[in-house]
Amino acid sequence: MFALQAEGLTKRYAHGKSPALDGLTLNVSGGQIFTLLGRNGAGKTTFLRIASTQLMPTSGSVFVLGLDCVKEPRRVRERIAVTPQDAETIYPLTARDHIMLSLRMRGMEKGEAMRRTRAAIEALELNDVADINAEWLSGGMKQRVIVAMSIATQAEVVFLDEPSIGLDPVNRRRVWDQLALMRKEGRTVVLTTHYMDEAEILSDTLAVVDKGRLVVQGTPQSVKGSSGGSSMRVEVGGGFSADELKSYGKVVAVAGKNRVLTDTEGARNLSDAALARGTGVSIGPVTLDDVFVDILGGAAEGEADA
Ligand SMILES: Nc1ncnc2c1ncn2[C@@H]1O[C@H](COP(=O)(O)OP(=O)(O)O)[C@@H](O)[C@H]1O
Ligand SMILES: [Mg+2]
Repeated sequence: MFALQAEGLTKRYAHGKSPALDGLTLNVSGGQIFTLLGRNGAGKTTFLRIASTQLMPTSGSVFVLGLDCVKEPRRVRERIAVTPQDAETIYPLTARDHIMLSLRMRGMEKGEAMRRTRAAIEALELNDVADINAEWLSGGMKQRVIVAMSIATQAEVVFLDEPSIGLDPVNRRRVWDQLALMRKEGRTVVLTTHYMDEAEILSDTLAVVDKGRLVVQGTPQSVKGSSGGSSMRVEVGGGFSADELKSYGKVVAVAGKNRVLTDTEGARNLSDAALARGTGVSIGPVTLDDVFVDILGGAAEGEADA
């Protein structure tokens, strides 16, 4: 049984020109970190909201732990936790209150809720600010409180919509550690992110969506291979014409940079050419970011960043 299964999922908003989801089909096995990647407006939030029973699809189906999200939303809700995009803290409550409330509302016994709250506060380094009004916290601290509210639960499937938005690199990694811990406990983590390094490091599988459709799904490794099988990326300074660059491999559009995806041989040749001209060159393995730009770089951006 899959932890999450969507079949022909379509969503048309009342005033939307084109569908936000357009026949999306994907499967996620249990006990893993699954990441949904896509440009602004690709339909990531819409998908998460439908799968977490907050929004009805126009057609198609979605199952969480084998339960139908449309027909059995209450049973689904008992088994999931959700961190929505743009969630906000509640004024008079402290960080500790937020996490306790989230656990107690799920029916967790008080002692256990206190224990799990303490652990989450510790893990996300909120000790010093745990007992002041959450409204007084910095954006990054608030975001950690919001994330802790779903991480601290024992939900089998946890949905997090851009959980690391606005966090500094150290705190992003703290959140990553918690996500990895959930996986270790056998829970399933479904997240969206704009950070390619995050998706690459954390995900067991990921799916790239564009205009509400699945573009590619697989492990970070296999998705990287979907870009014509290039293994190396080379960036060179000025002095190369577009045609010349093309002769070395696949040129990907990155603002103001000459980036070429190629094989080892092509990388060697291009770097030799760059060095001969005395221009800058950097070489490394192809990253998810390269592939993402390659696959979606030419696609028109969606409407507003919702
Ligand atoms: N409540 C809404 N009403 C109408 N259109 C919406 C609404 N929410 C999102 N959309 C549109 O649906 C598309 C997908 O949005 P969203 O799921 O938020 O994408 P993402 O999370 O990938 O940025 C976008 O074109 C967006 O403008
Ligand atoms: Mg979104």
